[in-house]
Amino acid sequence: MRQQVQIDIAKRIFDLKDNQTTDLADNVYQQSKNDYISPEVAQQEQQNLFRDLPLLLCLSCEIPEPGDYICDDFSGVPIIGVRTSNGDVAAYLNICRHRGARLACDKGSGLRQMRCPYHAWSYAADTGNLLAVPFNTGFEGINKDDFGLLPLPVIEHDGLIFVRPSAGDAIDPTQFLNTFNDDLAGYGLSQYSHFETRVLEAPLNWKLVVDTFLETYHLSALHSKTIAPLLHNNLMAFEPMGQHLRMVAARKTIDDLRSMPEQQWDLILHTAMVYVLFPNTVFIMQGDHLETWRVYPGATPNESRMHVSLYTPEPTVTESARKHWKKNMDLLMATVLSEDFPLATNIQQDFSACNNKMLFGRNEPALQHYHKTLTANLRCNHDK
Ligand code: FES
Ligand SMILES: [Fe+2]
Repeated sequence: MRQQVQIDIAKRIFDLKDNQTTDLADNVYQQSKNDYISPEVAQQEQQNLFRDLPLLLCLSCEIPEPGDYICDDFSGVPIIGVRTSNGDVAAYLNICRHRGARLACDKGSGLRQMRCPYHAWSYAADTGNLLAVPFNTGFEGINKDDFGLLPLPVIEHDGLIFVRPSAGDAIDPTQFLNTFNDDLAGYGLSQYSHFETRVLEAPLNWKLVVDTFLETYHLSALHSKTIAPLLHNNLMAFEPMGQHLRMVAARKTIDDLRSMPEQQWDLILHTAMVYVLFPNTVFIMQGDHLETWRVYPGATPNESRMHVSLYTPEPTVTESARKHWKKNMDLLMATVLSEDFPLATNIQQDFSACNNKMLFGRNEPALQHYHKTLTANLRCNHDK
């Protein structure tokens, strides 16, 4: 994030704090509870969001070397992303063209050819081309060029790798990332390292998981003993970034900046920079590290699955560094799993008991932007 942007946001936060307010939306907004429980809405989301939009697959550091690969099927589409021999990233449907077996799972290295575990058809990792068919006589008449792996659009940009789970046009990073691109350029994520990823399941609609992060109004009531001592309640600087958004929550240390020259202000150390990379990634620059939550629908509208990852600016090589980052991960898990999710689970259970609408306040502009963007995407494709 550029220095002038940090200065502008810090001044905005000081101004809001001094006036005992926060960034505000123009009006309150009513959100249908049905969107969190409806199978029809879930089905529409599956197509319009989890097939048609680029989704964050991983950070560059998770597949740094040629032959490194990572598999992901949380969107409902099995994807394999691989670092090719020239250093680019390719992505394919992780489905054999013979009879549909998955070619690989999890993550690994040294992949030059993908050999199907079922009947040993093999494919080139760099191109997806079908290389060999055992007992070729059985497939006389097929053109091997027609049976390569199906490529998926992929971009690697400033340390992030996005894949769209449906084939089609290339992803334009400038258009897709919108003004998030400016912030991203300054974070140096190409140099980051992966510390840990935990996979969670929760009895919550996937949107309710994202909602958890999108306001600071609940900190002092719900998190009085965990994160409320660290962050200001009901204070945020909000910025829409096209479909994405940025919500800057201020740490209580932010006032330390007031006595320093502006050019030395490091806002990132004194805030939690929460972004939503639409539709399903919560991306949080947490002072000295990055957390990502990649949230997906579960088998029903009342369930979700998520990848929670922690990335660090330096590789973790010492035991004391490992303990430090593990402590960060544990605090995050403790806060969310013991405070946010139990409460949200009750909300989810009670949606069908009282089908009035939820109210998003003027002091919850990030929630409003997120849900208005969701609605526009669903409606947009409805009209096709
Ligand atoms: S399903 Fe892959 S080789 Fe048969
Ligand atoms: Fe919370």
